[in-house]
Amino acid sequence: MKDQVYKITETAKKRIDDAVSLKELNDIKVKYLGKKGEITSLLKSLSSLSKEERPAMGKLLNEKRNEIDKLILEKTEYLNKEKLNIKVKEETIDVTANRNKHDVGHFSLINQTMAELEGLFQKMGFDVVSGPEIDTVANVFDDLNSPKNHPSRDLTDTFYLSDNVVLRPHTSSVQIRVMKQGKLPIRMVSAGRTFRNDEVDDTHSPMFHQMECLVVDEGVSLANLKDTINIFIKNMFGDDVKTRFRPHYFPFTEPSLEVDVTCPICKGKGCDACNHTGWSMELLGAGMVHPNVLENCGIDSEKYTGFAFGMGVDRIAMVKHGINDIRLLYDNDKRFIEQF
Ligand code: PHE
Repeated sequence: MKDQVYKITETAKKRIDDAVSLKELNDIKVKYLGKKGEITSLLKSLSSLSKEERPAMGKLLNEKRNEIDKLILEKTEYLNKEKLNIKVKEETIDVTANRNKHDVGHFSLINQTMAELEGLFQKMGFDVVSGPEIDTVANVFDDLNSPKNHPSRDLTDTFYLSDNVVLRPHTSSVQIRVMKQGKLPIRMVSAGRTFRNDEVDDTHSPMFHQMECLVVDEGVSLANLKDTINIFIKNMFGDDVKTRFRPHYFPFTEPSLEVDVTCPICKGKGCDACNHTGWSMELLGAGMVHPNVLENCGIDSEKYTGFAFGMGVDRIAMVKHGINDIRLLYDNDKRFIEQF
């Protein structure tokens, strides 16, 4: 009987080893350990053995039954795992196969430049505020001390939606809005779209972008203005770029000035990008806030002074990247867009 037990166990083990399906394993279990299974039958026949033989044989049969049971269990787990692996493999998406080509877009150069400018000023402690693209004549001209006969008020310069409402021709209207809120001191920048009735050419577009900067506090001076502009220019264009301040006229500032920078492409030596002058001209307009403007917004001009400047974002981007035609910024030509 002992030999028989070993033989049965060996065949069972081999069959478990060879099994490739759960069904097969189940059949094996039934064949050996089931109610009428070979091992079960032998266990049942123990009673026919002598009292002396019975315990050893019982022990052996139980051991073998447990051994076979354990092997079946292990193999079941193995096959289950393999089944799962196959399923995972079959369901895996092959990311390299038959790609539907959709190009991923990114911010336009204008938006990148505005974000860069705002980020720079934020680091210097300025608040970033936004204002509406449609504003009143009061915010855009009157309270900015613009004379009634100033040419910028002309229909040929500014888009009027009604007698008192315009598409803002500059971001300086946001200064007025912030000052009228009456919270002092003020350190703010504001970037956004602006509109002027200009014909399109390589430097003009009826829709363009500006960024405005305003500081109002006690004791603000022209030195603060120059210092702020110099820090900003160096951060934006590099340490080796120089600035030049020229006297100018704006109704809302006194004194007023315009700022040029040495051409960032040739570093002032002269190249095609700067018309061989070495300078990128009129990068921004600036000045000390006119006392009338402060008073128009309810700020005591005896106590407070301020500086302001405004710049064309398109122009900044063009100068920085050596772009010679503003239309490229709006044309949606992928060959251009993908360079930035
Ligand atoms: N608003 C002026 C322009 O559009 C720029 C400017 C802003 C000048 C603030 C001085 C102070 O040209």
